[in-house]
Amino acid sequence: MDFKVVWEDMEECQRIGLTKSIGVSNFSCKKLENLLATVKIPPAVNQVEMNPLWQQKKLRELCDRKNVLIVAYSPLGARGTPWQGHLVTESDVLKGIAAANGKSVAQVCLRWLCEQGVGVIVKSFNKERIKENFDIFSGELKQEDVYKMSQIPQHRGYLAQGFIFDEPLTSLLRSSGMGRFDSSISVVD
Ligand SMILES: NC(=O)c1ccc[n+]([C@@H]2O[C@H](COP(=O)([O-])OP(=O)(O)OC[C@H]3O[C@@H](n4cnc5c(N)ncnc54)[C@H](OP(=O)(O)O)[C@@H]3O)[C@@H](O)[C@H]2O)c1
Repeated sequence: MDFKVVWEDMEECQRIGLTKSIGVSNFSCKKLENLLATVKIPPAVNQVEMNPLWQQKKLRELCDRKNVLIVAYSPLGARGTPWQGHLVTESDVLKGIAAANGKSVAQVCLRWLCEQGVGVIVKSFNKERIKENFDIFSGELKQEDVYKMSQIPQHRGYLAQGFIFDEPLTSLLRSSGMGRFDSSISVVD
């Protein structure tokens, strides 16, 4: 995708009042830096996977410097999904911190994210768990617990392998019969 062209159209949407803010999702440091080098309106947010097992330290430093808010998705490691299973909620370090402080592992994760100064989107269809997830605004994490969390081995949950192709995207579009769209979309191999 030609991000520069798409972003110019998104800037136009903001300029004419169709939206208050524009942002990106799943942008790595490299993609974000490339985008920032050409834009008139920088993205307000970059929504990415972030939780204690994937802390995004490098990306957070860049976003802080560039004034782009990180919004953390899969804050509980997309619990129960085929790609993540229960890696975050079954972490021994997190279970130990939760037990010692009378909190759930989910609350430890969400509190930690809030203390990192990022936005958080957690998903639950369960009324009690939604309440539990909101009950995180009293009592800071202890320094020793924050340190333990900083030592957790890092493991990116969602590798998005379904979006990675051996062939250039233009060839795939042509062979799938979508070549007729070539003139109306911009594809960068
Ligand atoms: N921009 C992107 O590329 C992208 C990618 C992935 C996700 N997202 C968005 O991010 C949001 C959240 O991410 P996510 O759904 O991947 O993962 P998540 O919020 O980390 O995990 C959701 C899972 O955790 C369970 N859960 C919620 N609260 C819990 C609690 N207190 N204790 C135990 N289990 C709990 C939920 O089950 P119950 O419903 O049974 O409680 C659900 O199975 C979603 O709205 C999603 O659309 C965006």
